[in-house]
Amino acid sequence: MPPNKTSASDWAPAFAAVPRSAFLPDVMWPFDMDTGRSVTVGKADDPEAWRAYADADVPIVTQWDDGEGDGLDPGRLATSSASMPSVVFSMLRDLDVRPGHRVLEIGTGTGYNAALLAHRLGVADVVSMEVDGGVAATARAALRRFGMPVEVVTGDGFLGHVAGAPYDRIIATCGLRAIPYAWVEQARPGGVIVVPWGTDYVRQDAVVRLVVDDDGARASGRFTGPVEFMKLRAQRRAWPRHGDYVPAEGVAGAGVSSTTTLAEGDFVRDRFDVLRFALGLRVPACLCAVADKRDGVRPVWLYGLSDRSWACVLFREGRSTATVHQGGPRRLWDETEAAHAWWKERGEPGFERFGLTVGADGTRAWVDEPSASWPVRGG
Ligand SMILES: C[S@@+](CC[C@H](N)C(=O)[O-])C[C@H]1O[C@@H](n2cnc3c(N)ncnc32)[C@H](O)[C@@H]1O
Repeated sequence: MPPNKTSASDWAPAFAAVPRSAFLPDVMWPFDMDTGRSVTVGKADDPEAWRAYADADVPIVTQWDDGEGDGLDPGRLATSSASMPSVVFSMLRDLDVRPGHRVLEIGTGTGYNAALLAHRLGVADVVSMEVDGGVAATARAALRRFGMPVEVVTGDGFLGHVAGAPYDRIIATCGLRAIPYAWVEQARPGGVIVVPWGTDYVRQDAVVRLVVDDDGARASGRFTGPVEFMKLRAQRRAWPRHGDYVPAEGVAGAGVSSTTTLAEGDFVRDRFDVLRFALGLRVPACLCAVADKRDGVRPVWLYGLSDRSWACVLFREGRSTATVHQGGPRRLWDETEAAHAWWKERGEPGFERFGLTVGADGTRAWVDEPSASWPVRGG
């Protein structure tokens, strides 16, 4: 059963009673929507800006580079944050908690989401897991200070927390590329698992809402919409090194060159567009990088992640065909073009027509019905 409107509005008192500011550090790095960058904001230096960002619907980075970065400047990789409140809200709505439910959260971060859950369910029925010892300790202290001493377990949430099982609800607040079967095993039959999940093709995720079967053997359900989360620590993907794929002479060294009639607009879309998600579901172990347009030419690169296959498509302004170069054992552009046709043939399904089934034998993706499914990267 999808969550109903009543359960969504049930969250209003919790959001009113639990201010995000109570869980934010004195120095933080909110994402500035105007510049598209993280900015450093200190409570002591600029209390008004600090407060305004704390109350704004923006994600706020609270740790860089697993805590190794020092100084006040943003680091290279954001590794902990307070998520955007509107995303926190929509995922909690998808979770559809009811009084008496026991919840496991993966990714404590600041502790804000755990406090919202504890406000609804009581401190004793919420367990939160955080892989980073420093982040976990800070969240534990903030939760205690706020009067909601939720149990924060320091450890790898991929394994779940068997000592606290069974759970009625499991929610991950970091992005996954493979969902562990342990979460299905630790959830009750009929339980709900909400996870930001995605493929290697793009950085973005989509929230999937899995419901555990009556016999507890599998969990299955549809996607609710696109999001972007920092990834589970062990599932971060290093960016492929271009030089490891493409020969020194560049695209001229491709094994095969051809043309495509797929137009730039048919392929290059907004980062949250469902087409990018759908292509990732159909083209396994492949990463797509859309480069900036220069002198009217837009290069799109595809890198194979299980071998050194690559492809480059050059979309030229005003031309009805684009040039394609492909190297290595796989023909990554041909696979992508076939996936594009597959998506069109099915009437360009949106996120909600796609779903996942997680079982002991792996994870399978499907469109419309679980019966017509194919394997994707599993836990
Ligand atoms: C977006 S933040 C979570 C936001 C948090 N729920 C809040 O309300 O502030 C993601 C968190 O997941 C944590 N994380 C990453 N990998 C993890 C893992 N394997 N197990 C548990 N936590 C993990 C990160 O350290 C980070 O703190």
